[in-house]
Amino acid sequence: MSKPVYVLGGPNLNLLGSREPEIYGKDTLADIHARLESLADGTALELRQTNHEGELVGWIQEASEQGSAIILNAAAYTHTSIALHDALKACKIPVIEVHLSNPAAREAFRQVNYVSPAVKATIAGLGAYGYELALMAAKTLTGK
Ligand code: DQA
Repeated sequence: MSKPVYVLGGPNLNLLGSREPEIYGKDTLADIHARLESLADGTALELRQTNHEGELVGWIQEASEQGSAIILNAAAYTHTSIALHDALKACKIPVIEVHLSNPAAREAFRQVNYVSPAVKATIAGLGAYGYELALMAAKTLTGK
């Protein structure tokens, strides 16, 4: 059995669909996950979301041992969490950062990013489509 791609989401992504749809789109997280499942084509996916920083750190550590790649939208923790940065630096598998919006084009407090310097690649500003691109990239990077 090949190792799964972990698709990890941070705080408030459980509210997608109703949360500022003009910025984040109308798709729910369940919609995005369902689309990834339909594109997985035999690649196992671990689809998870949490509102807790430590849980995200634990999942990154778990994926490093048990997964083949991580697709990570750390949401607001992107801009605050040195704990996440350190977990990503220690991670042994490729990590692709995804954001629905383009934080670089938004408020000043979103210009700090602790995730980008610790990951393989970043996809931002393409809405839910960014997740599909990230899955394609994860498959290519892991030879699937
Ligand atoms: C986000 C961008 C972050 O700045 C924000 O805190 C989020 C969502 C995005 O997907 O565009 O919660 O990660």
